[in-house]
Amino acid sequence: MTQHDSAQHDHDGITEDREQRPPVYFTVLFYGLIIWGVAFSAFYLLSGWSSDTEFQEKMSRHEQAYQKTAPPQKKEPAAVTAPAIEQKSDDGGADLYAQLCAMCHGNEAKGGVGPDLTTAEYIHGKSETEVTESIAKGRPGGMPGFAGQLNDDQIEELVEYLLEL
Ligand code: HEC
Repeated sequence: MTQHDSAQHDHDGITEDREQRPPVYFTVLFYGLIIWGVAFSAFYLLSGWSSDTEFQEKMSRHEQAYQKTAPPQKKEPAAVTAPAIEQKSDDGGADLYAQLCAMCHGNEAKGGVGPDLTTAEYIHGKSETEVTESIAKGRPGGMPGFAGQLNDDQIEELVEYLLEL
């Protein structure tokens, strides 16, 4: 800081006031980062560590632990979901409706993606057979069929629920 005088250069009227040395923190940072970079690269090249093997190890540990606690669930996802619906079916069609239909037909069945189901007339007919068919087989305009997911009793409950709306 005291050597300014000797470090002054004059270039066409522009005075350059050069410090003799860069500040200490700069030097430390500069060499420090070089050393860190070399050490970092060396770690990857020489230690044999790889994120992939670490991931594989974690996965196999996780899989072993998982297989010990819950082996059958993995193979039969359908068996896991079906009883959940069956349990709820005791509460009648309203519950099934809320679970499976409300997302498209609205919470009040007043329509949404699917049509209003509280109307006196249905597009595809409002007789018990026709409504059963709408639910079981689906309708081309975006109504999925539920025959694979629900049993006949559950569909009947839904039909009763809809016809009472
Ligand atoms: C993915 C959205 C979606 C879901 C979920 C859905 N519906 Fe639909 N539903 C529709 C659409 C769209 C239509 C109109 C189809 C058409 O007109 O061709 C429809 C039509 C119907 C119809 C015939 C209506 C009419 O006017 O003829 C009935 C009945 C019905 N749905 C009942 C249900 C029931 C009960 C459930 C639940 C088990 C359900 N829907 C779940 C989208 C859905």
